[in-house]
Amino acid sequence: MTRGSSFAGRVVEWQQRHGRHDLPWQGTRDPYRVWLSEIMLQQTQVATVLAYYPRFLDRFPDVASLAAADEDQVLGLWSGLGYYSRARNLHRCARDVMARFGGSFPRTAAELATLPGIGRSTAAAIAAFCFGERAAILDGNVKRVLTRALGFDADLAVAAHERELWQRAGALLPSTDLHRTMPAYTQGLMDLGATVCTRTRPACVICPLQGECVAAREGDPARYPVRTRRTVRGQATLWLLHAHDVQGRVWLQQRPERGFWARLYCLPVHEDRDQLLGSLNAAAQGTVVEHAGFRHVLTHRDLDIHVVSARVGLHDLAGEGAWFAPGEWGALGLPAPIRVFLQSNA
Ligand code: ADE
Ligand code: SF4
Repeated sequence: MTRGSSFAGRVVEWQQRHGRHDLPWQGTRDPYRVWLSEIMLQQTQVATVLAYYPRFLDRFPDVASLAAADEDQVLGLWSGLGYYSRARNLHRCARDVMARFGGSFPRTAAELATLPGIGRSTAAAIAAFCFGERAAILDGNVKRVLTRALGFDADLAVAAHERELWQRAGALLPSTDLHRTMPAYTQGLMDLGATVCTRTRPACVICPLQGECVAAREGDPARYPVRTRRTVRGQATLWLLHAHDVQGRVWLQQRPERGFWARLYCLPVHEDRDQLLGSLNAAAQGTVVEHAGFRHVLTHRDLDIHVVSARVGLHDLAGEGAWFAPGEWGALGLPAPIRVFLQSNA
């Protein structure tokens, strides 16, 4: 069989000719670096990750330094990447690698998947990139490519169908020269999903799989993947109190363990305007400013945010929270819109 004549061969060859080769996490087989990039890339675009990845590695060059850090430091460096459970799991994972594996990442997908924040697909990606393991990935992008190429139209909301797709993905893997082919194949599927086989406008004419792709032959690739269950988006309106004192300090509270922005530092959250103003009691000194509302989009809900600024005396606020000086809050883990607000309203 000649190179490129099988499904895997076509993906490998395409990746080597047309895929990306210059991303900072591609020139290494260090599992710490590859793991960090895969976690950052889970819900964030490459362009954004490129700005965070070197900064994070600079501060935490290896798993030991990350494990030794305070969670607040980690969340601070993550601030702006969103999906903060990733950062908390990252930190836990580093500690687990130290405690359970003597400071070296395990070398199989099965063991990697026992670590916090590393799901089956991420475990397979790390094992394929670093150790050439013959393990299938199946993230959202890859599901799209494979369901289309295979004409797999069973409903992926059904667990048994999802399991079957994992099996089909496994059967397509390269079978020779794995240390070379597995990294290229894995990266190639990711790159195809991100740049060629896109959700609404797949570029079948430049796709290496066009000749064998069932969806392309049928003429309607966008009908794949099939998934019936839809998550219902929620909405919430938040009223945030921006209490500051005469020296520019700001009052911040740590968010609860559960729910959105878990454990990040935030302006106190109120359900409505009256409740917010009630919490101020007579503490406001001078004008109370109500800023224009704005919408912040999270994965499962839209937040409509209103901020009310008031200058208060240092001892006038009750309840959980603390004052942070302008030089102090920058290093905290803050939700991105709160950071932006404070930067422009300091
Ligand atoms: N998304 C997830 N992993 C990726 C990778 N290694 N390269 C580009 N995009 C990705
Ligand atoms: Fe996707 Fe088109 Fe390639 Fe099929 S031929 S995998 S639909 S881009």
